[in-house]
Amino acid sequence: MKVDGRHFRSIWLEPDGWSVGAIDQRLLPHEFVVARIESVEAAADAIRTMLVRGAPLIGATAAYGVALAMRSDASDAALDQACKLLIATRPTAINLKWALKEMQRALRPLPLSGRVEAAYARAGEIAEQDVAINKEIGQHGLALIEAIAAKKPGELVNILTHCNAGWLATVDWGTATAPIYLAHDRGIAVHVWVDETRPRNQGASLTAWELGHHGVPHTVIADNTGGHLMQHGMVDVAIVGTDRVTANGDVCNKIGTYLKALAAHDNRVPFYVALPSPTIDFSIDDGVRQIPIEQRATEEVATMTGRTADGRIETVRVVPEGSPIANYAFDVTPARLVTGLITERGVLKAERNALSCAFPDRASGY
Ligand code: MRU
Repeated sequence: MKVDGRHFRSIWLEPDGWSVGAIDQRLLPHEFVVARIESVEAAADAIRTMLVRGAPLIGATAAYGVALAMRSDASDAALDQACKLLIATRPTAINLKWALKEMQRALRPLPLSGRVEAAYARAGEIAEQDVAINKEIGQHGLALIEAIAAKKPGELVNILTHCNAGWLATVDWGTATAPIYLAHDRGIAVHVWVDETRPRNQGASLTAWELGHHGVPHTVIADNTGGHLMQHGMVDVAIVGTDRVTANGDVCNKIGTYLKALAAHDNRVPFYVALPSPTIDFSIDDGVRQIPIEQRATEEVATMTGRTADGRIETVRVVPEGSPIANYAFDVTPARLVTGLITERGVLKAERNALSCAFPDRASGY
């Protein structure tokens, strides 16, 4: 997508052909800084510290991390070590495990002399595949938005989203945002309610930044506002992303998603989840009990970071010293609260049969 007239993806191979560029998402929306990742350790750090984040981008970064590791040492031991380092960075997004499996599957059978080239090729494919998938998701989601727009001619289509499932969270286009960008580009009058998404503010800092750069009308709201808006008919549809969908359609996403789904259900607002197939975990059924929920540093809840009037970036404490803090990063929305899953193969019911029929190759295990 475009940033000040220049086209960017969230991650790319630098012209030197080996190092990896990525947008440092920790600094947005205050500063636009490009980071260069030159080792598997740096790739792991980038994921762990959330320089890059969002399930599909975590997967793509891990794939490039393996390629960087192979460049230093293409042995089996180095491949094992790289995967061990990368898988330990973040526990919830299944795309990380998927990408590492893909890389191992591509590299293990090869002689050491062919591994570096093959690793960069497979990492590049994973990145390109994500872009293509998101465009498909965009087309399927666009049809949903068009149908809503057709029912209220001349009026805004109000879409609520949570966290950042935009192009920054993927390689390009985003999942939840792809239909929104396409609808806006087609001239449909969309307006997005952007949940701020405490504690890290991915909505306020990243989604708002993205939408603003694309000219999409939007309003940032405090996290607890969605229910009120839905009660007053101010939300036509909710579209969110996800970090892992179980075989039976339970959806794990950024903390607070479940509460939005409950409010949507109570107010008969359609609640859609946009996802690429690598986000499906066919090995588990029960999202609430089986998906590992990341718990992050308490400082994220205790503090807020922003730009002061004189331009400095500052972090201030908002919780009394000594108050215990819990920081659960994700929650699970049961399939029964999900109106549909917007995938690259169409809009599916959030249930086992629909998922396994649409993705038989994945459902049979890989
Ligand atoms: O902790 P984050 O910022 O990595 O969480 C991101 C989300 O929860 C996104 O909604 C999800 O990864 C989907 S991204 C297309």
